[in-house]
Amino acid sequence: TVVRTDELVAQARRRRGAVAAVNIITLEHAEAVAQAAAATGTAVILQLSENAVRFHGGQLEPVSLAAAAIARHCDVPIALHLDHVTDEALLAQVAGSVFSSVMYDAGALPHEENVERTRRAAAFAHGAGLWVEAELGYVGGKADAPASAHAPGVRTDPDEAAAFVAATGVDALAVAVGSSHAMTSRTARLDDALIARLSEAVPVPLVLHGSSGVPDDELRRAVVAGIAKVNFGTGLNVAMTATIRGCLDADAALVDPRRYLAPARTAMADTVGALLQVLA
Ligand code: G3H
Ligand code: ZN
Repeated sequence: TVVRTDELVAQARRRRGAVAAVNIITLEHAEAVAQAAAATGTAVILQLSENAVRFHGGQLEPVSLAAAAIARHCDVPIALHLDHVTDEALLAQVAGSVFSSVMYDAGALPHEENVERTRRAAAFAHGAGLWVEAELGYVGGKADAPASAHAPGVRTDPDEAAAFVAATGVDALAVAVGSSHAMTSRTARLDDALIARLSEAVPVPLVLHGSSGVPDDELRRAVVAGIAKVNFGTGLNVAMTATIRGCLDADAALVDPRRYLAPARTAMADTVGALLQVLA
Protein backbone atom coordinates (compact mmCIF):
# COMPACT_ATOMS: atom_id res chain seq x y z
CA THR A 1 0.00 0.00 0.00
CA VAL A 2 1.36 3.41 -0.90
CA VAL A 3 1.21 5.96 1.93
CA ARG A 4 2.81 9.33 2.53
CA THR A 5 6.28 9.77 4.03
CA ASP A 6 5.02 12.33 6.58
CA GLU A 7 2.51 9.77 7.90
CA LEU A 8 5.24 7.18 8.49
CA VAL A 9 7.62 9.66 10.12
CA ALA A 10 4.83 11.01 12.34
CA GLN A 11 3.90 7.45 13.36
CA ALA A 12 7.54 6.67 14.16
CA ARG A 13 7.81 9.81 16.26
CA ARG A 14 4.63 8.98 18.19
CA ARG A 15 6.11 5.65 19.25
CA ARG A 16 9.50 7.34 19.85
CA GLY A 17 10.95 5.10 17.17
CA ALA A 18 12.30 5.53 13.67
CA VAL A 19 11.18 4.50 10.21
CA ALA A 20 13.73 2.90 7.88
CA ALA A 21 14.24 4.71 4.57
CA VAL A 22 16.04 2.35 2.22
CA ASN A 23 17.81 3.44 -0.95
CA ILE A 24 17.07 1.46 -4.08
CA ILE A 25 19.02 1.27 -7.31
CA THR A 26 17.62 -1.72 -9.19
CA LEU A 27 14.22 -3.39 -9.30
CA GLU A 28 15.68 -6.14 -7.10
CA HIS A 29 16.53 -3.60 -4.39
CA ALA A 30 12.90 -2.42 -4.30
CA GLU A 31 11.59 -6.00 -4.29
CA ALA A 32 13.94 -6.91 -1.45
CA VAL A 33 12.78 -3.98 0.68
CA ALA A 34 9.12 -4.77 0.07
CA GLN A 35 9.76 -8.44 0.86
CA ALA A 36 11.44 -7.61 4.17
CA ALA A 37 8.74 -5.08 5.06
CA ALA A 38 5.99 -7.62 4.39
CA ALA A 39 7.82 -10.41 6.24
CA THR A 40 8.22 -8.30 9.37
CA GLY A 41 4.93 -6.39 9.04
CA THR A 42 6.82 -3.09 9.12
CA ALA A 43 6.10 0.10 7.19
CA VAL A 44 9.11 1.46 5.25
CA ILE A 45 10.17 4.28 2.99
CA LEU A 46 11.55 3.37 -0.43
CA GLN A 47 13.91 6.09 -1.51
CA LEU A 48 15.61 6.86 -4.76
CA SER A 49 18.56 9.23 -4.88
CA GLU A 50 19.31 11.70 -7.64
CA ASN A 51 22.41 9.57 -8.30
CA ALA A 52 20.26 6.49 -8.87
CA VAL A 53 17.96 8.47 -11.17
CA ARG A 54 21.03 9.54 -13.13
CA PHE A 55 22.09 5.88 -13.37
CA HIS A 56 18.70 5.16 -14.98
CA GLY A 57 19.31 7.74 -17.70
CA GLY A 58 18.15 10.77 -15.73
CA GLN A 59 14.50 9.82 -16.12
CA LEU A 60 12.38 9.75 -13.01
CA GLU A 61 9.51 7.68 -14.38
CA PRO A 62 10.84 4.22 -15.27
CA VAL A 63 12.31 3.30 -11.92
CA SER A 64 9.91 5.33 -9.73
CA LEU A 65 6.81 3.88 -11.38
CA ALA A 66 8.24 0.39 -10.91
CA ALA A 67 8.97 1.13 -7.24
CA ALA A 68 5.46 2.53 -6.78
CA ALA A 69 3.95 -0.60 -8.32
CA ILE A 70 5.99 -2.78 -5.95
CA ALA A 71 4.79 -0.66 -3.02
CA ARG A 72 1.17 -0.85 -4.21
CA HIS A 73 1.33 -4.65 -4.36
CA CYS A 74 2.84 -4.94 -0.88
CA ASP A 75 0.58 -5.58 2.14
CA VAL A 76 2.35 -3.10 4.43
CA PRO A 77 2.45 0.71 4.11
CA ILE A 78 5.29 1.99 1.91
CA ALA A 79 6.09 5.62 1.10
CA LEU A 80 8.24 6.89 -1.76
CA HIS A 81 10.92 9.53 -1.19
CA LEU A 82 13.29 11.25 -3.63
CA ASP A 83 16.69 11.51 -1.94
CA HIS A 84 19.67 13.91 -2.20
CA VAL A 85 18.28 16.18 -4.90
CA THR A 86 20.67 18.94 -5.96
CA ASP A 87 19.23 19.58 -9.43
CA GLU A 88 16.30 22.00 -9.45
CA ALA A 89 15.08 20.58 -12.77
CA LEU A 90 14.71 17.19 -11.07
CA LEU A 91 12.98 18.81 -8.09
CA ALA A 92 10.45 20.30 -10.53
CA GLN A 93 9.64 16.78 -11.79
CA VAL A 94 8.67 15.58 -8.31
CA ALA A 95 5.43 17.57 -8.38
CA GLY A 96 2.67 15.21 -9.46
CA SER A 97 4.95 12.14 -9.31
CA VAL A 98 4.65 9.06 -7.09
CA PHE A 99 6.89 10.69 -4.45
CA SER A 100 5.31 12.25 -1.36
CA SER A 101 8.59 13.68 -0.11
CA VAL A 102 11.96 14.92 -1.20
CA MET A 103 15.34 15.67 0.31
CA TYR A 104 16.82 18.83 -1.12
CA ASP A 105 20.58 18.88 -0.63
CA ALA A 106 22.31 22.24 -1.07
CA GLY A 107 25.01 21.30 1.43
CA ALA A 108 27.78 21.95 -1.10
CA LEU A 109 26.90 25.67 -1.20
CA PRO A 110 28.05 28.40 1.17
CA HIS A 111 25.71 28.67 4.17
CA GLU A 112 23.73 31.77 3.08
CA GLU A 113 23.12 30.30 -0.36
CA ASN A 114 22.22 26.93 1.16
CA VAL A 115 19.58 28.66 3.31
CA GLU A 116 18.16 30.66 0.41
CA ARG A 117 18.07 27.75 -2.07
CA THR A 118 16.60 25.41 0.53
CA ARG A 119 13.95 27.98 1.48
CA ARG A 120 12.95 28.32 -2.19
CA ALA A 121 12.99 24.55 -2.75
CA ALA A 122 10.86 23.97 0.36
CA ALA A 123 8.34 26.61 -0.72
CA PHE A 124 8.09 25.00 -4.15
CA ALA A 125 7.80 21.48 -2.72
CA HIS A 126 5.18 22.53 -0.17
CA GLY A 127 3.20 24.09 -2.98
CA ALA A 128 3.23 20.65 -4.61
CA GLY A 129 2.09 18.98 -1.38
CA LEU A 130 5.47 17.40 -0.61
CA TRP A 131 7.25 16.86 2.72
CA VAL A 132 10.76 18.27 2.57
CA GLU A 133 14.02 17.18 4.20
CA ALA A 134 17.29 19.13 4.12
CA GLU A 135 20.77 18.59 5.57
CA LEU A 136 22.98 20.75 7.75
CA GLY A 137 26.54 19.79 8.66
CA TYR A 138 28.96 17.40 7.00
CA VAL A 139 27.86 13.78 6.59
CA GLY A 140 30.13 13.24 3.60
CA GLY A 141 31.41 10.00 2.10
CA LYS A 142 29.71 10.29 -1.29
CA ALA A 143 32.40 9.68 -3.89
CA ASP A 144 30.92 11.73 -6.74
CA ALA A 145 29.19 14.39 -4.65
CA PRO A 146 30.26 18.01 -4.85
CA ALA A 147 32.46 19.06 -1.95
CA SER A 148 30.52 20.14 1.12
CA ALA A 149 30.69 23.72 2.33
CA HIS A 150 31.43 22.21 5.72
CA ALA A 151 34.87 20.90 6.61
CA PRO A 152 35.00 17.10 6.91
CA GLY A 153 33.87 15.93 10.30
CA VAL A 154 31.96 19.10 11.21
CA ARG A 155 28.93 18.19 13.33
CA THR A 156 25.58 19.94 13.20
CA ASP A 157 25.31 22.76 15.73
CA PRO A 158 21.94 22.78 17.59
CA ASP A 159 21.49 26.59 17.49
CA GLU A 160 22.43 26.77 13.82
CA ALA A 161 20.09 23.85 13.10
CA ALA A 162 17.16 25.57 14.83
CA ALA A 163 17.84 28.79 12.88
CA PHE A 164 18.17 26.84 9.61
CA VAL A 165 14.84 25.07 10.10
CA ALA A 166 13.12 28.35 11.03
CA ALA A 167 14.61 30.16 8.02
CA THR A 168 13.88 27.46 5.45
CA GLY A 169 10.62 25.92 6.65
CA VAL A 170 11.81 22.34 6.06
CA ASP A 171 9.85 19.45 7.60
CA ALA A 172 12.84 17.32 8.64
CA LEU A 173 16.56 17.79 9.14
CA ALA A 174 19.41 15.43 8.29
CA VAL A 175 22.18 15.95 10.83
CA ALA A 176 25.91 15.25 11.01
CA VAL A 177 26.41 13.33 14.25
CA GLY A 178 29.19 10.89 13.40
CA SER A 179 27.90 8.80 10.49
CA SER A 180 29.31 8.94 6.97
CA HIS A 181 27.89 7.79 3.63
CA ALA A 182 28.94 4.61 1.83
CA MET A 183 30.70 2.86 4.72
CA THR A 184 31.15 -0.85 4.01
CA SER A 185 32.03 -1.69 7.59
CA ARG A 186 29.91 -0.85 10.61
CA THR A 187 32.40 1.10 12.66
CA ALA A 188 30.80 4.56 12.96
CA ARG A 189 30.46 6.04 16.43
CA LEU A 190 27.56 8.44 16.94
CA ASP A 191 27.34 11.39 19.32
CA ASP A 192 24.15 10.57 21.25
CA ALA A 193 24.44 13.63 23.47
CA LEU A 194 24.51 15.83 20.36
CA ILE A 195 21.49 14.00 18.88
CA ALA A 196 19.59 14.64 22.12
CA ARG A 197 20.54 18.34 22.07
CA LEU A 198 19.53 18.63 18.42
CA SER A 199 16.25 16.91 19.10
CA GLU A 200 15.61 19.39 21.91
CA ALA A 201 16.56 22.43 19.81
CA VAL A 202 14.93 21.50 16.51
CA PRO A 203 11.12 21.23 16.22
CA VAL A 204 11.16 18.85 13.21
CA PRO A 205 12.12 15.15 12.99
CA LEU A 206 15.83 14.34 12.71
CA VAL A 207 17.21 12.10 9.97
CA LEU A 208 20.33 9.93 10.15
CA HIS A 209 22.18 9.48 6.86
CA GLY A 210 24.89 6.92 6.22
CA SER A 211 23.30 4.38 8.55
CA SER A 212 24.97 1.39 6.84
CA GLY A 213 28.16 2.16 8.77
CA VAL A 214 26.39 2.31 12.14
CA PRO A 215 26.40 -0.74 14.47
CA ASP A 216 23.03 -1.99 15.78
CA ASP A 217 23.46 -0.75 19.35
CA GLU A 218 24.59 2.69 18.16
CA LEU A 219 21.53 2.82 15.91
CA ARG A 220 19.19 1.92 18.79
CA ARG A 221 20.73 4.62 20.99
CA ALA A 222 20.45 7.20 18.19
CA VAL A 223 16.73 6.48 17.88
CA VAL A 224 16.25 6.80 21.64
CA ALA A 225 18.12 10.13 21.45
CA GLY A 226 15.75 11.44 18.77
CA ILE A 227 16.42 10.11 15.25
CA ALA A 228 13.07 9.47 13.49
CA LYS A 229 14.17 8.46 9.95
CA VAL A 230 17.08 6.11 9.31
CA ASN A 231 18.55 6.31 5.79
CA PHE A 232 20.19 3.06 4.77
CA GLY A 233 21.64 2.18 1.36
CA THR A 234 25.16 0.79 1.12
CA GLY A 235 24.36 -2.25 3.28
CA LEU A 236 22.14 -3.56 0.47
CA ASN A 237 24.91 -3.10 -2.08
CA VAL A 238 27.40 -4.91 0.13
CA ALA A 239 25.00 -7.87 0.41
CA MET A 240 24.06 -7.84 -3.26
CA THR A 241 27.58 -7.62 -4.63
CA ALA A 242 29.08 -10.19 -2.27
CA THR A 243 26.35 -12.64 -3.25
CA ILE A 244 26.75 -12.06 -6.97
CA ARG A 245 30.53 -12.34 -6.68
CA GLY A 246 30.11 -15.66 -4.89
CA CYS A 247 27.73 -17.00 -7.56
CA LEU A 248 29.99 -16.00 -10.43
CA ASP A 249 33.13 -17.29 -8.74
CA ALA A 250 31.41 -20.62 -8.10
CA ASP A 251 30.22 -21.18 -11.66
CA ALA A 252 32.14 -19.84 -14.64
CA ALA A 253 29.42 -21.09 -17.02
CA LEU A 254 26.61 -19.14 -15.33
CA VAL A 255 24.78 -16.89 -17.81
CA ASP A 256 21.17 -16.39 -16.71
CA PRO A 257 21.15 -13.24 -14.48
CA ARG A 258 18.25 -14.66 -12.47
CA ARG A 259 20.65 -17.30 -11.13
CA TYR A 260 22.61 -14.60 -9.27
CA LEU A 261 19.99 -11.86 -8.92
CA ALA A 262 17.58 -14.11 -7.02
CA PRO A 263 20.08 -14.96 -4.25
CA ALA A 264 21.31 -11.34 -4.29
CA ARG A 265 17.74 -10.14 -3.76
CA THR A 266 17.31 -12.59 -0.88
CA ALA A 267 20.56 -11.35 0.69
CA MET A 268 19.32 -7.74 0.44
CA ALA A 269 15.96 -8.71 1.96
CA ASP A 270 17.83 -10.35 4.87
CA THR A 271 19.87 -7.18 5.38
CA VAL A 272 16.75 -4.99 5.40
CA GLY A 273 14.98 -7.48 7.67
CA ALA A 274 17.81 -7.18 10.20
CA LEU A 275 17.60 -3.37 10.08
CA LEU A 276 13.83 -3.47 10.61
CA GLN A 277 14.33 -5.73 13.64
CA VAL A 278 16.80 -3.24 15.13
CA LEU A 279 14.30 -0.40 14.67
CA ALA A 280 11.29 -2.44 15.88
O1 G3H B 1 20.54 9.10 1.82
C1 G3H B 1 21.00 7.93 1.85
C2 G3H B 1 21.63 7.41 3.04
O2 G3H B 1 22.29 8.40 3.71
C3 G3H B 1 22.35 6.10 2.85
O3 G3H B 1 23.66 6.04 3.37
O4 G3H B 1 24.42 4.23 1.86
O5 G3H B 1 25.80 4.97 3.74
O6 G3H B 1 23.71 3.70 4.18
P1 G3H B 1 24.45 4.65 3.29
ZN1 ZN C 1 22.30 10.36 2.53
